[in-house]
Amino acid sequence: MERLTGFRDFYPEPVPANEPWSCDLRQHIFGCWRRTARNYGFREYDGPPLEPLELYTNKSGAEIVAQLFNFVDKGDRAVSLRPEMTPTVARMVATSERAFKKPIKWFSLPQLFRYEKPQKGRLREHFQLNCDIFGEADVSADAEIVALLIDVLRSLGLTAEDFVVRLSSRQAWQRFFISRGGNPEQAYEFFQIVDKIEREKPEVSTQKLAALGIALTEVQGFINSSVPEPELQSVLDNLEARGLKAFVKVDYGVIRGLAYYTGVVFEAFDTKGELRAIAGGGRYDQLIHQVSEGKVNLPALGFGMGDVVLAELLKARQLVPSFASTIDTVVLIEDESLRLQSLGLVQQLRDADSPADYTFTPAKSDRQFKKALELGAARTVRLERLSDGTIQVRIKNLKTREEAIRPYDGSPAWFAGG
Ligand code: HAM
Repeated sequence: MERLTGFRDFYPEPVPANEPWSCDLRQHIFGCWRRTARNYGFREYDGPPLEPLELYTNKSGAEIVAQLFNFVDKGDRAVSLRPEMTPTVARMVATSERAFKKPIKWFSLPQLFRYEKPQKGRLREHFQLNCDIFGEADVSADAEIVALLIDVLRSLGLTAEDFVVRLSSRQAWQRFFISRGGNPEQAYEFFQIVDKIEREKPEVSTQKLAALGIALTEVQGFINSSVPEPELQSVLDNLEARGLKAFVKVDYGVIRGLAYYTGVVFEAFDTKGELRAIAGGGRYDQLIHQVSEGKVNLPALGFGMGDVVLAELLKARQLVPSFASTIDTVVLIEDESLRLQSLGLVQQLRDADSPADYTFTPAKSDRQFKKALELGAARTVRLERLSDGTIQVRIKNLKTREEAIRPYDGSPAWFAGG
């Protein structure tokens, strides 16, 4: 039985041949994500992986809706696996915002599902770090969220030589569109055309833009100008003060495909331009209002960073650490008459939060010792009965090969002092 296309198995290291994903690497990424988000004062939340279909049909935009893993459940409800976290967190905040001091700063590590064509950097499930701020309209929050994105990538060992955050602004694009006589009602249609310009044939973009009364050359002229609009200048100044300016550049070619963005938007890419976007986000000040059907009005902004492209980049830059086993001690059972006492010893170690292992069935002592070396254990521990019937414990440091001998009376006292 094969797994579904676009889905992954996560084996522990060393992974079998042809299995590119490891649970160790996933945990390494999750650890850096969590640590950095907490350093910025963000709190972790989560929500259901299955949501009412309706949560996505109006708010996310056509592209994501076309990729939904949706079905009708046994209670005749139209439901969907979550393709992104933003509508869920918007619903959570809209429902319970009064219980939380503002600004709300939250992060989550959801697994998300999109029925996309599996390809390099795109699968049908992925994990995504989501960091979002609610209740702060000032552009200083935009700078904070971009700084957090940068620091998450730095925490994994990536530098300004490896990635760049391309900064843009939907307000700037909105002003551009209106100043050229665009109809405000068609602004999102216009944004979607701009979003695809890099991937689309020029004739197609020209034709689509012409229908809105805009020339492709004008759009290209604005992209090439790269002049920071005031909101972007403010973000740049803020990041410069932190020493992070080398990680960002103004690039109006970024506009984001999702429907709900309203202000500063950004995407992170590898500097060599070989991979898909590592992360993307921006300000979405109207979404809480929409999700709460007008009851709550809170400005919001954030980003999502996927694990798939990130892992590809870490591998390409040789930034994946080697993952050692987590076992500290292997308890050797050379005298089978001491197996039960040895199990007591294993339990004492585990009770003290010191990872310990042993062989389930009798095995030659050299095989047990080899297993300890293979597991990368720091030491072996072995019980031994003396001729007078007393029992002692031999503790061998596998690095220095030094051995300590202590009396063993069944209590954890032998373990004191490590
Ligand atoms: P997004 O740009 O759709 O934004 O996704 C963010 C990141 O998730 C992408 O840059 C990419 O790394 C990863 N990603 C997306 N789809 C896939 C896929 N099929 N396979 C692998 N990785 C993928 C959002 O989802 C927004 N909700 C982010 C956000 C949070 N905006 C504000 N707050």
